[in-house]
Order: sequence, then structure tokens, then C-alpha cells
Amino acid sequence: MNPRATWSLPTRHLGRRVLVFDRVDSTNTLAAQLAADPANAGTVILADEQLAGRGQHGRSWVCPPGAGVLLSVLLFPPPALRRPVVLTSWAAVAVCETIRELTALEARIKWPNDVLLEDRKVCGILIEQGKGTVVGIGLNVNQSAESFAAAGLTLAGSLALWTGQPLDRSAAARRLIECLDREYDFLCRGDLDRLRAAWKQRTGLVGREVVVKALDQTYLGLLRELSWDNVELQLPEGNVLCLRPETVKHVELVS
Ligand code: BTN
Repeated sequence: MNPRATWSLPTRHLGRRVLVFDRVDSTNTLAAQLAADPANAGTVILADEQLAGRGQHGRSWVCPPGAGVLLSVLLFPPPALRRPVVLTSWAAVAVCETIRELTALEARIKWPNDVLLEDRKVCGILIEQGKGTVVGIGLNVNQSAESFAAAGLTLAGSLALWTGQPLDRSAAARRLIECLDREYDFLCRGDLDRLRAAWKQRTGLVGREVVVKALDQTYLGLLRELSWDNVELQLPEGNVLCLRPETVKHVELVS
């Protein structure tokens, strides 16, 4: 299968080769197939349409042809950056920056990997690690409210629903790649604090009453700390519960 176009962006780590397809099964699958050759590090796959787009927890990712940015990047990160929580934070923060640069809107991050405008999900992230690391991003750009309703996606949103007019998807994809590259460069130079702070600020949950859905059970309490190493919750009885982020499925504000 041949790409419709190939871009070469003046970036440092990812996007120096961008393969743009009309239609693929899943951009993540295609990126993973390139992992056999380390020379493909940083290659980005973009597609107008996915026939079998994948989401979290075995779900599918649905996006009408030409409505969203469907992007996967293949990376071989150094060990310090290989943790899914770090990679997810990196991608989520870069998506928020992209949204700000494109629309002047401030998005927030819903633990662990959704990007929201108000309470609507505008982006999902799927990290898959095998021979290499594939970071897949689905950003809803031009979907209408009707198309979400028809797909039964009652809590989804697209950027165009806020801007009131369609956005240039190629420009959005390019901006996203540039933001990912910029933030990845900080990480590669050992600066993880910048990302930690941006991620914490965008999650906006510390000090609030939250519901924490862990692998074993659900807890209600006051969130005292949310970091890549620790989710600390003060329970109603007063004792403090510390959870590893890997064991936490969701942290949400009490509504
Ligand atoms: C989620 O469930 O929130 C994660 C969705 C991730 C979707 C993106 S679209 C591009 C890439 N290719 C896929 O098959 N999935 C990811």
C-alpha cells in the first residue's frame, strides 16, 4: 500500500518522514509494522480514514472519513521515557498545546489519556509497546454534533464545534507533529519537570473531591497528590490511600 503523500518536516525527532494515506486499517498497526527497522524511528503515519481504528480497552475508534486527525508515531524512546504514564502525559500535553495554538481554547486532561474541551472528549491516545513504541492519537477536528449522535458518541466533541467553522486538517496535523516534537526534545534532554508541571496543571484535580476507579475497587475521597508515581487519596474516614498510577483506571471529579 502506497502513501498518497510523503512530507518531510524540519523537526528533530519525529515527523522528518510523514506518510499520508487515504485509508488504512489502523495507523497504529501500520506504524508497528515499521518497528522492525530502527531507521524508521520518528516516522509518522497519517490517514484520512481507518477501517479498524483501535481505542483503549479493546474498544474501536470511530471517525468519519476526513473529519479528524488520525496519527501514529513510531518511537524507540530511551528507558526513562518508556513508561506509558510518561508517554501518555507527553502526548496529552502536546495535544492541549496544539488545541491552544489552533483555537485559543484551553483543553484539560482527564486521567489517564483523554483530552477534553469542557466535558467533551476531543482526543484519545493509545500507546502500544512491542519492538518499538507506537503512540496513536485521534483528534476530533471537524465532526458535527449529528455525526457524534449517529455514532452514539454522546460525550464526544470536535474542535469545529467550538470554533464554529471547519479547520484545515492538514495544518492541524502538522501543528500537532511540531508540538509533539518540541515537547519530546525537552524530554530527550532530560527535562521531565516541564512536562510534569504542564500535565498536573492540565489535569486540575489536586485538592478536589474525586472518584478513583482502581483495578480492584472504586474509592471516593480528597485527592492530595497526583503524580506519575503516586495517586494519594484522603478517604472520608481520614486515612490516606496511596496507589500506583498503573493500578488506576480513572480519576474523575465528583459530579
Ligand atoms: C481511546 O480509546 O481514547 C484511544 C483512541 C486512540 C485512537 C487513535 S486514532 C490513530 C491511532 N490508530 C488507532 O487505531 N488508534 C489510534
